[in-house]
Amino acid sequence: MSFSNKLKQMVKLCGLSFGAFSAICIYKEDTKFYKTYVMPIVHLLDPEQAHQFSVIINKYRLLPRSKYNDPDSLKVQAFGSLFNNPVGIAAGYDKNAEAVLGLNDMGFGFVEIGSVTPLPQDGNEKPRVFRLKKDEAVINRYGFNSDGHEIVLKRIYELRESNYNGIIGINLGKNKTSPDPIGDYVKGIIRFGPVANYLVINISSPNTPGLRNMQGKKELYDLLVPVVQAAKSVPNRPALLLKLAPDLSFEERKDVADVINKKECQVDGLIISNTTISRPNSLNCKEEAQQTGGLSGKPLKELSTKMIADMYKLTNGIPIIGVGGICTGEDAYEKIKAGAVVVQVYTALVYEGPTLVTEIKKSLDKLLAEDGFKTIGEAVGKSS
Ligand SMILES: Cc1cc2nc3c(=O)[nH]c(=O)nc-3n(C[C@H](O)[C@H](O)[C@H](O)COP(=O)(O)O)c2cc1C
Repeated sequence: MSFSNKLKQMVKLCGLSFGAFSAICIYKEDTKFYKTYVMPIVHLLDPEQAHQFSVIINKYRLLPRSKYNDPDSLKVQAFGSLFNNPVGIAAGYDKNAEAVLGLNDMGFGFVEIGSVTPLPQDGNEKPRVFRLKKDEAVINRYGFNSDGHEIVLKRIYELRESNYNGIIGINLGKNKTSPDPIGDYVKGIIRFGPVANYLVINISSPNTPGLRNMQGKKELYDLLVPVVQAAKSVPNRPALLLKLAPDLSFEERKDVADVINKKECQVDGLIISNTTISRPNSLNCKEEAQQTGGLSGKPLKELSTKMIADMYKLTNGIPIIGVGGICTGEDAYEKIKAGAVVVQVYTALVYEGPTLVTEIKKSLDKLLAEDGFKTIGEAVGKSS
């Protein structure tokens, strides 16, 4: 055999061996394999393309279903639903309800869709997502790119009609140029209420001008009165949650607590937190950090945990979904002990890959046992 033929054979063999090795690692849900090989290859794509690519993978359920069986210790009763485990995917990943089944296969205990706006809109100009690799963080300024209520609602009805009974939260946004922002949220509640386990009033994304002002005392009161009323009118009334920004000062946090403690403004829970517009000095990626938008991932972790603890105390223990910089079971456990009843992740998936969900669950189960807790519920708020 000539030298060049031998070389071709060798290359073929190496390719086949690596293919077989990859298949085994994917089947065995090998975390190191994803972190060392798969995610760096995915990162050759620009961040928005990589996001779209992974949504397609989940849409067509191209990854094997996680083999981990959720233990009883991880079951949580909250927001009127029984969660098989407390780890959910945060809003912004599956904005248009395309990937729910794949996310469920990955082992998530619940999926939050959105933010969804009443009318379809494109969002901001590209590029609008940036990786801060050394910080394991992301900055995004998507600006509510959404297929709109009608299309997203149709997808969720199809899921429900196919007997999918996993927990679905719908995160509601407003159109950029809406003349009636409050009306946008009310429409979302009426339309999605019958198919959602919980609804989220998102007034904390930094990429829609003026949105975050709705967290002000008077603005919040004016929003919550009609919104709470609308939620009450929906058959099978889903839980109503409010998603907050981590950049509120302590005074502003107190104002929010005062408003939601009023009977006519009572929501069923809070999601803490959205991305931050702050840029901690500790960031390594100084250049990328200058991009406008919301920062998520590791550098957000302490800020959001502190806010969970504050709001848990200020509201005398309102149920909270804790989110922001969770990369490990320990991070999730910190949020639970600060007052979160369930948690969500997003940015860490960009760096760790899909096996992260199982890793967090395994570690949470172990941490609970080490502290002598039988369930997640027993650990909620224990460090507050
Ligand atoms: C690319 C991207 C898009 C997001 N889009 C939304 C959104 O549409 N609505 C929303 O409420 N939060 C959105 N978020 C915020 C996340 O839901 C979450 O609150 C935040 O990223 C903190 O969690 P993490 O550090 O685990 O990513 C987005 C986050 C990222 C990274």
